[in-house]
Amino acid sequence: MKKFNSIFFFIISFLIIPSIYAQKFEGLAKTPPLGWNSWNKFGCNVSEKLIMETADAMVVSGMKDAGYQYVVIDDCWQIARDSLGFIVADPQRFPSGIKALADYIHSKGLKLGIYSCAGDKTCAGRPGSRGHEYQDALMYAKWGVDYLKYDWCSTENLNALGAYTTMSRAIREAGRPIVLSICECGSNQPWLWGKEVGHLWRTTGDIYNCFDCIQDYGSWKSWGAMQILDMQEGLRQYAGPDHWNDPDMLEVGNGMSNNEERAHFSMWAMLAAPLMAGNDLRNMNSQTLSVLTNKEVIAINQDSLGIQGFRYAVNDSVETWIKPLVNNEWAIFYLNRSKSPKNILVDWKKFSVKDDLSGKTLDTTDKNLFVIRDLWQKKEIGDTKKNLSITIPPHDVLCLRIKQKQTKPSI
Ligand code: GLA
Repeated sequence: MKKFNSIFFFIISFLIIPSIYAQKFEGLAKTPPLGWNSWNKFGCNVSEKLIMETADAMVVSGMKDAGYQYVVIDDCWQIARDSLGFIVADPQRFPSGIKALADYIHSKGLKLGIYSCAGDKTCAGRPGSRGHEYQDALMYAKWGVDYLKYDWCSTENLNALGAYTTMSRAIREAGRPIVLSICECGSNQPWLWGKEVGHLWRTTGDIYNCFDCIQDYGSWKSWGAMQILDMQEGLRQYAGPDHWNDPDMLEVGNGMSNNEERAHFSMWAMLAAPLMAGNDLRNMNSQTLSVLTNKEVIAINQDSLGIQGFRYAVNDSVETWIKPLVNNEWAIFYLNRSKSPKNILVDWKKFSVKDDLSGKTLDTTDKNLFVIRDLWQKKEIGDTKKNLSITIPPHDVLCLRIKQKQTKPSI
């Protein structure tokens, strides 16, 4: 009998303990998620037509081929709760329902993302998930949702870690692996606790469609790409595979100049940020498309080491950013933040960088010879034997990837 009891308790605890401690589904975002989100361009103007056409465009434009995967419907797809409390999609805008939409997205080889909020109401005033977390997660799982952006409005008296943990567990219980994107704008320092709960967390308030400006709405502000870049200071140690700092979605294709789009996109790649396009994929010009699909820049973002880059130096408005990559390769980006062209001169003999976080050292000062590749020109531009002298246009970037030259064994 005693033996039976201990076997019984062993089995029960085996069943119960994992659900008590259940946290996020591991391994869903080993590299930063790549996709598209409706909010920056369309706000509340979402519909199944838009989402299906966007998925089509993602495939036809070559974005899927470049690695983009998630098509995320942001706020305003939901309209009410039914008599049992289940969430209801707007029947005018989503007449076929979310399940049919998910099936369509999956048939294109893509994944569907959806949006909700930890509070009573979403940030646009639609029904939020507070008190309905398990019901909502169940619904998302039934529909075939793959990604949840979970916001933080109308959250009076809620504790952020508690609220996000509840949704994380609800997803786990519903049984479908869903990426959890924590979107509470950095106010509760999600980098300190987000790793166990979700796969990425917003670090700042909303991005604004400009390169370098602040949009002041009185009670709140939204931020240009450069302002957001500066707010990432001190956060790189918290990011890594399956848990990323999220400096918000891209504004590429929404009106910045081509130089600025290139710089914004490159810096998000350098930050190992999720790359969520935020423009109209159905109508983008070839310059925007070539920015969004630069596979060599995307490869810096998607590097399997998952180390976020850092600002190494600032010199006359030109910032040098560095990111260690696999196989002892390195990304070195020069960002010209000024409104005038800037000349840079790189003397590789003086270039020695020790990255304390990764423990890696980049040393081009001695006999180590590195080949230099320009990721926007998409060609090799020499090696570290010679100084590099180059002009960077205003609000633009020079993106280099360097790798050690193989020396031929002497016979
Ligand atoms: C917040 C988020 C945005 C967007 C809106 C939707 O402001 O930060 O990214 O999701 O809510 O209402």
